[in-house]
Amino acid sequence: MQIGQKVLHLTSVDSTNNYAANLLKRGELVNGTVILADDQFAGRGQRNTKWQSNPSENLTISFFLDDVNLSVDRQFVLTQLVTLGLLHFFEKEDIEAVIKWPNDIYVGNRKIAGVLIENQLRGNQVQSAIVGIGINVNQKGFDGLTATSIFNETGAFSSITEQMFSLIHSMNEVFARHKSDFTTLKEMYETHLYRKNVRAKFEDVHGKFTGVIQGTTDQGELIVLRDNQQEQTYSLKEISFIF
Ligand code: BTN
Repeated sequence: MQIGQKVLHLTSVDSTNNYAANLLKRGELVNGTVILADDQFAGRGQRNTKWQSNPSENLTISFFLDDVNLSVDRQFVLTQLVTLGLLHFFEKEDIEAVIKWPNDIYVGNRKIAGVLIENQLRGNQVQSAIVGIGINVNQKGFDGLTATSIFNETGAFSSITEQMFSLIHSMNEVFARHKSDFTTLKEMYETHLYRKNVRAKFEDVHGKFTGVIQGTTDQGELIVLRDNQQEQTYSLKEISFIF
């Protein structure tokens, strides 16, 4: 897995993930291609949310992996690789970021980056993946959202193109480092998991509760030990964090 051999730089697009998906449909998307947009006017987030980003101030990017080679029940490995790639990227900016399960990147209690992975499946294999990443780079205000940016954390403006190359570099480094060792990958992911081993408030269908995140399953579910000593695993839509 390597990205950045080809970079498409778009001025304006609805969503870089959509653009990649359309190229793929037409058979025109090469493995490792990176798509960068200055302005993304209908950016998409997880769970059908919108990803809003001021034009030319942030990194909105997608890349295509045609050699994922994971079975569907191990697709969480890709989430681990991408989120650790992002932490590596932020380390170079001297920003200590954490992973809010499953794939948000936070600094303290503020979101600095988000990930939207869309897998193409064949049978029970992940055949390929379009990985969309939004990183807040130079944007200062976030209209009531609890978000932050590289600028807000460091006080320094940066070039979006340079940050894109830095991100490509971090991803390639993490992909190469963890190519076949999924055990250390899980450990690394959990070491940087927001609120792990910390008593905190959550909410599920039954209401609010307090518990401690223990880790994740191989399938990417969150394991929480509730105050009543019951251990429970949650998939994506089943639990939310209370701040
Ligand atoms: C989230 O946190 O909900 C995920 C946000 C992902 C946003 C990125 S920006 C580039 C790519 N194109 C999209 O439409 N979404 C992703």
